[in-house]
Amino acid sequence: MNETCHISTEADVYAAAGMARKMARQMGFSQADVARIEIVVRELASNIVRYAEGGKIDLREAELDHRRGLEVESSDRGPGIPDLELALQDGYTTGHQGLGSGLPAVRRLMDTFEIWTEVGQGTRVRATRWLRRPTDWLRDLWRRD
Ligand SMILES: Nc1ncnc2c1ncn2[C@@H]1O[C@H](COP(=O)(O)OP(=O)(O)OP(=O)(O)O)[C@@H](O)[C@H]1O
Ligand SMILES: [Mg+2]
Repeated sequence: MNETCHISTEADVYAAAGMARKMARQMGFSQADVARIEIVVRELASNIVRYAEGGKIDLREAELDHRRGLEVESSDRGPGIPDLELALQDGYTTGHQGLGSGLPAVRRLMDTFEIWTEVGQGTRVRATRWLRRPTDWLRDLWRRD
C-alpha cells in the first residue's frame, strides 16, 4: 500500500500523520515505532507548510534484503536549504517559533535518512524505518561490546 498526502495547511499535517500511523500499525510496527514514524511525518510536513508553502509526503511500503519497512518521503518545490550542514544541527532554525530540532529528530528516529536540496529548486527528504523482527534484540545484544 502506498499513499500520497498533499501538504499545504496545518490540517494536512495532521491528516498525513494519521495516515502514517494507520499504515505503520497495519504493517505491524511496535507502538514505539508507530509513534516515531508519526513524529517524523509531522516534522517533515510542518517544514513543508512553514518553509515551502506546499508539497507532499509519500508513504511507501519498502522491501530490501527480506526486510520490510515504511519509507517516508517529503518533497517540495520551496526555497531549498542554503546550508544543509547547519540545518541538520540541533538547535538551528530560521523560523520564528522553531526549536531547530525537526530534521535532527527525523534523522535519529529512522534507520535511513537522505536529504537533497537545492536553493530555488526545493527539498526532498527520504527516511525509512525497518520492521524489527522478534529475534533482532538478540542480535543487537550480541553485537554490543
Ligand atoms: N522543506 C524545507 N524547505 C526549506 N527550508 C527548510 C525545509 N525544512 C527545513 N528547512 C530549513 O532547515 C531549518 C531546520 O529545520 P528543522 O525542522 O530542523 O527546524 P525548525 O523547523 O526550524 O524547528 P522545529 O522543527 O524544531 O520546529 C529550518 O529552520 C529551515 O531554515
Ligand atoms: Mg521543523
